[in-house]
Amino acid sequence: MTSDFAISKRAAAIKPSATLAVSAKAAELRAAGKEVLSFAAGEPDFKPPKAVREAVSQASLSEPIRYAPVPGTPALRDAVAAELGAFHGRTFARNQILVSCGAKHSLANLFLASLDPGDAVVVGAPYWVSYPDMVGLAGGVPITVSTTRAAGWKLTPDALEPVLGPKTRFVILNSPSNPTGAGYTRDELRALGEVIASKAPSAWIVTDDIYRNLVYDGFEATSAFVAMAGITERIVAIDGVSKTYAMTGHRVGYMAGPVELISAASRIQSQTTSGAATLSQRAALTALTDPSVPAEVEAMRTAFARRRSLILEGLAQASGVEVQRPDGAFYVFADVSRHVGAGAKHATDVELATWLLQESLVATVPGTPFGAPGHLRMSYATDDASIEEGCRRIAKALATLPTA
Ligand SMILES: Cc1ncc(COP(=O)(O)O)c(C=O)c1O
Repeated sequence: MTSDFAISKRAAAIKPSATLAVSAKAAELRAAGKEVLSFAAGEPDFKPPKAVREAVSQASLSEPIRYAPVPGTPALRDAVAAELGAFHGRTFARNQILVSCGAKHSLANLFLASLDPGDAVVVGAPYWVSYPDMVGLAGGVPITVSTTRAAGWKLTPDALEPVLGPKTRFVILNSPSNPTGAGYTRDELRALGEVIASKAPSAWIVTDDIYRNLVYDGFEATSAFVAMAGITERIVAIDGVSKTYAMTGHRVGYMAGPVELISAASRIQSQTTSGAATLSQRAALTALTDPSVPAEVEAMRTAFARRRSLILEGLAQASGVEVQRPDGAFYVFADVSRHVGAGAKHATDVELATWLLQESLVATVPGTPFGAPGHLRMSYATDDASIEEGCRRIAKALATLPTA
């Protein structure tokens, strides 16, 4: 039933999440009894570590569950400060940490607390779908810079330089990246830091390190604080427990930055969501501090490494599909441009993904909402058998198509 309810211009400008749209269609087909295999998930398929589950159930049985302090419990803020401090090679005070309801919420708070109308936020494309919308929602202007598979899906100083200037408020770096899995080396980060410092000396860097622990083939995520030694006073770090600890549903993320930002973002949080859920903060504290957790994280990482090999092998059998080997996260970003456009059966990647879902019952996410048409993002956060069968179905389906 529709009504004449008028939504705001702000709401009208926000695109619905493409990933959620594919998941909804896949769920619909499943409900109709179809055996859908999904490469659409943006989350690990594991349970949170055992100690986390036990801590939550014990606390829920024995403690009153009251409002938590708005910026996070002191114990969790200190644990976050210690964990981020170890990775970034510096000391964070408690008042430099804000705990929020997921890293997505941390980013929204960051932009709401810092952007004025017209402020530019630079991000490389393909990008995580939420960055441009969040920037726009806060009144900023997202500026996207295309990257290429040939250049490993990474920003280069040459590509970045022309868009930097006095209006640049932030440059977002996401390493390893969603959707490509590409990770920056220390030298690459240093070179980006140098061009930012020289062309946009008042800009800040946002480093979204949510996938930093899910890395493969010996790749190690480097902290921007460590690599960009000359400009460490202008970096905001975004992180959280969702991906490393398979805790997406707990909704805990955090930001480390200057006290002025943390206190402004905390004021915004105090008038919107209040603090993150009390039980989830307990869960996050356990994830960050219990000595049994790292071994479970390593077991998950090893499983992802195996699945990554499986999906790369499986996609190598599909004609007209080119993949850049990801350094981390749990996605491959497949170039399917030979199967879309003039001369091909499908005009766009969105049409191709819809066709694969309907005809082959395989869910993938089109590249267009990530700022890279002609691609499909495939998540390998699913079991080995589904990866093998899903790749077989894709190869079989694509073999029937004329290529452009
Ligand atoms: C690059 C990136 N940053 C941040 C997030 C947000 O994670 P959460 O809000 O679950 O902490 C995601 C989730 O998909 C992501 O891919």
